[in-house]
Amino acid sequence: MDSQRIVVVGSLNMDFVVSVEHLPAPGETVLGSAFRMLPGGKGANQAYAAARLGGRVAMAGRVGYDLFGDQLKAGLAAAGVEIGEVHATRSGPTGVALIWVDRTGQNSIVVASGANATLTLAEEAARRLFRGAGIALFQLETPLATVAAALAAARAEAVRTVLDPAPAQPLTSELLGRVDVLTPNESEALILLGKPPGRIPAEERPGVARALRARGCGTVILKLGDEGCFVAGSGGERHLPALAVTAVDTTAAGDTFNAALAVALAEGEPLEAAARFANAAAAVSVTRAGAQSSAPSRPEVEALLGQSPAS
Ligand code: RIB
Repeated sequence: MDSQRIVVVGSLNMDFVVSVEHLPAPGETVLGSAFRMLPGGKGANQAYAAARLGGRVAMAGRVGYDLFGDQLKAGLAAAGVEIGEVHATRSGPTGVALIWVDRTGQNSIVVASGANATLTLAEEAARRLFRGAGIALFQLETPLATVAAALAAARAEAVRTVLDPAPAQPLTSELLGRVDVLTPNESEALILLGKPPGRIPAEERPGVARALRARGCGTVILKLGDEGCFVAGSGGERHLPALAVTAVDTTAAGDTFNAALAVALAEGEPLEAAARFANAAAAVSVTRAGAQSSAPSRPEVEALLGQSPAS
């Protein structure tokens, strides 16, 4: 039994990142200034960042039989992530993501899922993976049926489940009923409620969070980017402001948030303290380029938290 163990079920991508002055409009060609290939994928980003923050992490995922797959697995293993359930498949290449980052740090991302779309987890293997763990992290870059089945297996093993509903898609109340902590950004929250994506005015955040909780998930943490997060659970509702930093690349800020949240929850922190830790980790991550390459160390997060006034 290792209730501090974190299990991540999700995607691994090689990110092809280009810096641009502004994001291209439909039909527009823009000249980029730099190109980099960096490890990414929402699942792998969460696993990597959690391990870097001191979490004991195991991941389940799929890569292709190719160089990118080998590189992504090696990067996770070097960070200390158990990758025994990250298998190579001949059914597709390793996933890739094409990412543009503008001068303000905002991005656009297109994912070619490749091997990620073949991820399945047999019930026995899933139960073994989750057995004795404290927290399970999920996102939506792998097949929905796999996510639904893995959520059920995690629940059956009494593991606390955290779902990052990204990329956004409608979800059934049956699936949301297996989620202990749902962490949408504003657009994802609105899409889950059948509304057009966009920002949520401050006065409407409690209503959105309650509407999502009414669909079955225990706690909702709305991720608000440079405005921090809004936490709504059985213990009440609270806005936690973001920490002030200069953003250069917001890619994987949400993944870093979830990783840090999981680490703090696995260590037994209460929800609000865990969300503050997650806010700080996400803030550090946006000050650096890339996804896994921006994941903060524990002392960096603690230093930033130490500077912030309690609110
Ligand atoms: O959340 C950021 C991630 O989304 C990138 O690393 C990219 O791979 C896409 O999955």
